[in-house]
This record gives sequence, C-alpha cells and structure tokens, in this order.
Amino acid sequence: MTINAKTSVYCVIGDPISHSLSPNIHNAAFKRLKLNSVYLAFKVQKEFLVEAVKGLKSIGVKGFNVTIPHKVSIIPLLDKLDPLAEKIGAVNTVKNVDGKLIGYNTDGEGVLKAFEVEDVSLKNKKVVMVGAGGAARALAFTFANHAKEIVILNRTEEKALELASSISRSYNLPVKGLKLNMENLSLELKDAEVVVNATSVGMHPNIDETPIPKNLIKPEMVVFDVVYRPIKTRLLKEAKQVGAKTINGLAMLVFQAVKAFEIWTGLTPPIDAMFRAALRGLKG
Ligand code: ATR
Repeated sequence: MTINAKTSVYCVIGDPISHSLSPNIHNAAFKRLKLNSVYLAFKVQKEFLVEAVKGLKSIGVKGFNVTIPHKVSIIPLLDKLDPLAEKIGAVNTVKNVDGKLIGYNTDGEGVLKAFEVEDVSLKNKKVVMVGAGGAARALAFTFANHAKEIVILNRTEEKALELASSISRSYNLPVKGLKLNMENLSLELKDAEVVVNATSVGMHPNIDETPIPKNLIKPEMVVFDVVYRPIKTRLLKEAKQVGAKTINGLAMLVFQAVKAFEIWTGLTPPIDAMFRAALRGLKG
C-alpha cells in the first residue's frame, strides 16, 4: 500500500523503544489486510510525555500503544478509561475516537490467550508471581479472575504489598504480597501450580540471570515468562529440563497486539502473519 495523504497513522511510545516488535507485528497485519495504515515507534522520554500525547492527539493519530515507562503516568492525560484499564491502573493501548483518547489494557487478554493456546487453565490454581511493576499489575488482575490463590513476590516489598492489597479490594480470593527472597520463594513454590516471571530478570543482555532457581521448579508446574528476548530464557530452559510445562512471552506480546488491533480497526486480525512478523523481528 502506498503511503499517501489518506494514510492512517498508529504508533508506540516508550523509552527505550528501538527493540520494540510492535511495528513489525502491526505493519504485517495492515499489509495482510491491505489497509492504508502505518505503525511507527517513537522514543518519548518521561519529561516529554505530556507534549507527545498532545501532539499525537492534535495530528489525529488513530491509535497508539504505550510501553515502559508510561503505562501508568499516561492515565491522567487520557479523556476516558475502559473499565478494565481503570481497575488495573495501567494502559497499554489508546484509541482516538473523534478526538478523544480512550485508554485500554490488552496485556491481560494477551496472557490469557497465551495460556489458552497452550491449553493451560488457570482455574483453581495457585499462582506464584515474581514482580510488581506495570506488566505484573495487568497479569495479577487477570489471574485474579481465574486462580484460587495468588502470591506476589517483589524485590521492593512495598510494591508487592500494594499490588496484593489493590487486588484484594476487587476480588474475593487470597492474595499475598511478599519480599522476593529465597526463604519466601521456596516456601511459596512448594505447592505452586503456575509460576510467573513478570520482571525483566533474564532479559537480553542479561541472559544468564534467572529469577527462580532451578531446584525450586517441579515437573507438575507451568512456568510462564513475560520476557521474550530471548524467547527461551534461562528460567524457561531450566523449567523444561526439569520437565515442567513452559509458556514464553512472545505469545503474550502478539496477543496483546491482536486485541489492540481489534480495538483500533474493528477487524479480525491476521494472527498468523502477526506471529511470523514477531518471530522475524526477533531474529533480525
Ligand atoms: P514492567 O512494566 O516491565 O513491569 P517495571 O514497572 O519497571 O517494568 O517493573 C519491573 C519489575 O522487575 C519490578 O517488579 C522490579 O522490581 P522492583 O519493583 O523492586 O524494582 C523487577 N526487577 C527488575 N530488575 C530486577 C532484579 N534484578 N531483581 C529482581 N527484580 C527485578
């Protein structure tokens, strides 16, 4: 499709942004559906967020994704929030509807689909999660809809406690926030059924790091890592060696994009083309 004066513009804003796979994923979908649309990535530093959002709104960008470090701080800059994004307290997708910016969160849908395609149910499972940042918030609220119990361990204990108590306010299930240390990890992992890394530990270039030691992983567990660069993190490699079922972060990335694409265009996204573009982008 030739870019012309009628081309619809979408983008992602964040910092850092140069490794984002979102342009690969969405442009592949636009191409497959022959839409006159383009998706770009813009590095927006924290101090420029207000100007950037005003600019995107004033030039009529149709929609955009929001990533680290803006997922929470963008909220007051939007005109309206979808109820789920409001509950989670973080936004990763914005739609421009007649000049009004509406915030959504599609990360939860992304992780649910990633579990669904692997045929893993969260129903009545004990979920132990490491991390309490922006990504962790969306995951924890999503798991709270299905799991029987959630434990959140974080390096900064207060953030784990805060996230646990905000989930407890909305959902009726046991949720615990704890300091991330060996003692708490080994105790909580004894009867954990789903284990989640929602931190950046193990992400490129620190690929030799892992948030959970191999000796605490059991064959009955399902281990999910939000990190997708590399696609097989040390955590997932070791979990596989132990015999546990593993789910990588790429599926969540693609499915959150699939949901965002649906919100923006109202069309059925070409999931296979989006997956292939993400994989090509990872290798390239
Ligand atoms: P994101 O939006 O990807 O979740 P974030 O909000 O910056 O990014 O959150 C990063 C998460 O990774 C946090 O839970 C962070 O722990 P702190 O709250 O203590 O900062 C966690 N994290 C990052 N590096 C870590 C490390 N080396 N060890 C343990 N946790 C780490």
